[in-house]
Amino acid sequence: MSSKNILITGASGLIGTRLTELLLEQGHQVSHLSRNHSRSKARIYLWDIDKKQVDPHAFEGIDTIIHLAGAGVADKPWTDKRKWEILKSRTQSTKLLFEELQKRKHSVTTFISASAIGYYGFEDNEKLHKENDDSGTDFLANVVRQWEAEIDRISELSIRVVKIRIGIVLSGKSGALKELVKPVKYYAGAPLGSGDQYVSWIHINDLAAIFIRAIQNETMEGAYNGVAPHPVTNRDLTKAIATQLNKPLFLPAVPAFALKVLLGEMANLVLKGSKVSSEKIEQAGFKFQYDKVEKALADLLPKKI
Ligand SMILES: NC(=O)c1ccc[n+]([C@@H]2O[C@H](COP(=O)([O-])OP(=O)(O)OC[C@H]3O[C@@H](n4cnc5c(N)ncnc54)[C@H](OP(=O)(O)O)[C@@H]3O)[C@@H](O)[C@H]2O)c1
Repeated sequence: MSSKNILITGASGLIGTRLTELLLEQGHQVSHLSRNHSRSKARIYLWDIDKKQVDPHAFEGIDTIIHLAGAGVADKPWTDKRKWEILKSRTQSTKLLFEELQKRKHSVTTFISASAIGYYGFEDNEKLHKENDDSGTDFLANVVRQWEAEIDRISELSIRVVKIRIGIVLSGKSGALKELVKPVKYYAGAPLGSGDQYVSWIHINDLAAIFIRAIQNETMEGAYNGVAPHPVTNRDLTKAIATQLNKPLFLPAVPAFALKVLLGEMANLVLKGSKVSSEKIEQAGFKFQYDKVEKALADLLPKKI
């Protein structure tokens, strides 16, 4: 692939950090659009979404934007204020990018955005979701639908738009896997609720490779699920983590009501799941390095902890 000049928003997070490393290794020029200066190998430009301010130099020479910015969905309790922050950090940031691209001369041809499998909602645990399916009706599904509507508007500017509906990202550094490992490590590992809820996961390196494929492959356009080919139930994932770490699972499942009392509506994140298809991205020629969860865990976790 010829060298690209890429601007990434939200690049200081889990996905952006790994993606930046891989893009730099491949010889691309990478800069970040961030809310503040942090340690980074890339050049950082600043933006303030609330004030609708973006460093005007951020877009100079840029051909590709990767949009990852958004307030962490599982980082804080879902108060009304936090729910508004989760929505607004995605819709307003995308809207601001649209307005900036609309008003200035630029050379951007490709816009690749994070989206989420939360789009499909949690209505039917057994249904295999494909990109043409309708969105769900719960809070997260509403957020993702509104976020995608803003992302889609970018194509009105004759820019190729790709949306990656990301599943649960497995990384050794942070994110969901770190939280799942904690109880198993301290001999308190147990499935959550029924344990039957599907986890449509993806290894961080495969996800980063999908974003890179979307830069490369100019025929890619619209929504693609960013999930591995074999989703697993919460019970099987917990067992696979325990096996990888060589730890026993003693406890019965954590009852759903206890998690609801503890987490409120946010408990949906762990008690409910969705089974999501990787067929479309595979048809676009993408080959997963980590297709089975055992293989991903063997790469990300130590043999003993
Ligand atoms: N990780 C997953 O399992 C997963 C699953 C589905 C979808 N996604 C989506 O993929 C994107 C990237 O995920 P990630 O795991 O890398 O997220 P992350 O680690 O939480 O990082 C997101 C980045 O967004 C920026 N950000 C945080 N709060 C913000 C706010 N209130 N307003 C504007 N920007 C804010 C921050 O960058 P700066 O501080 O540099 O501005 C932050 O580093 C997110 O939009 C997320 O919803 C992730």
